[in-house]
Amino acid sequence: MTTVDIHSHFFPRAWPDLAARFGTPDWPSIRHTGPDQAVIMLGAREFRHIRAACWHAAARIEDMDRDGVDIQILCATPVLFAYDRPPAQARECARIFNDAALEICSHDGRRLKALCQVPLQDTDMACAELERALSAGHIGVQIGNHVGDRNLDNAGIMTFLQHCASLDAPVFVHPWDMMAPERMSGYMLSWLVGMPAETQLGILSLILSGAFERLPRSLRICFAHGGGSFAFLLGRADNAWRQRDIVREHCPNPPSSFVDRFHVDGAVFDDAALTLLISVMGEDQVMLGTDYPFPLGEQRAGALVRGHSGISDTARSKILEANARRFFRL
Ligand code: CO
Repeated sequence: MTTVDIHSHFFPRAWPDLAARFGTPDWPSIRHTGPDQAVIMLGAREFRHIRAACWHAAARIEDMDRDGVDIQILCATPVLFAYDRPPAQARECARIFNDAALEICSHDGRRLKALCQVPLQDTDMACAELERALSAGHIGVQIGNHVGDRNLDNAGIMTFLQHCASLDAPVFVHPWDMMAPERMSGYMLSWLVGMPAETQLGILSLILSGAFERLPRSLRICFAHGGGSFAFLLGRADNAWRQRDIVREHCPNPPSSFVDRFHVDGAVFDDAALTLLISVMGEDQVMLGTDYPFPLGEQRAGALVRGHSGISDTARSKILEANARRFFRL
């Protein structure tokens, strides 16, 4: 059986000094501290220590061989999104990243595939960069779950999603720019509380706004981290939809009726959580995603799905391979 990991991150080995280029501060950069170690910097501040797997194709392939991963789909470390920058600067950042991502994939194009990023704050620029990246070899696009105060049902983002559908480009939604940072400054609370809530917000904004009614069914869209808190709280959303007219104002059908419109990865780290996720989403809508190579990712890619005794072999093979092949047209 082939195994496909649809959620892994990449930071280019070399990254230009965008602060100097644009004259605006606090751009991400990479500072190498040893042959296999580096630090992602935000201006002069250390953001995250990373290892060679983050930028080195051979190190990634070695880990893939160890874990039995055949194909890995990589995308930007979200700190590179730059949605709060002037659009032309974000476009430049996206172009640099997208070209670097194809470069690392070129070391083994059969096993390494890339999702592009786009300057989502400007719809026309985002559509144009998506087209450029797809024709250059990207197999889809990663976006954040919001742009500032604009959720996924925002008109400009909807236009972008419709463009993705028209180009047959799959979309991977990754939470970033998490809410209430002033109350989540410690303990990685932004990752443990903010990210699942942001993902839940992204999904419900598409459901309750009626956006899924307007988007073509052909749109392929997948949410990271098991869809955040969505699956566990779907009963709460359905109950609210039944009880309160303001919840169903733009949504003609209960939230649970939309689960066939999107996919999720299976990065939930717990047997019972994966059981719930599969029962809510269906075994055709969940794909292996590890968050490799970061510490909050699955440390042995695929171990949860492979070791779960409560799912059928059919479901296992769908989650490890078939769903991703269909979703990304691999
Ligand atoms: Co991730």
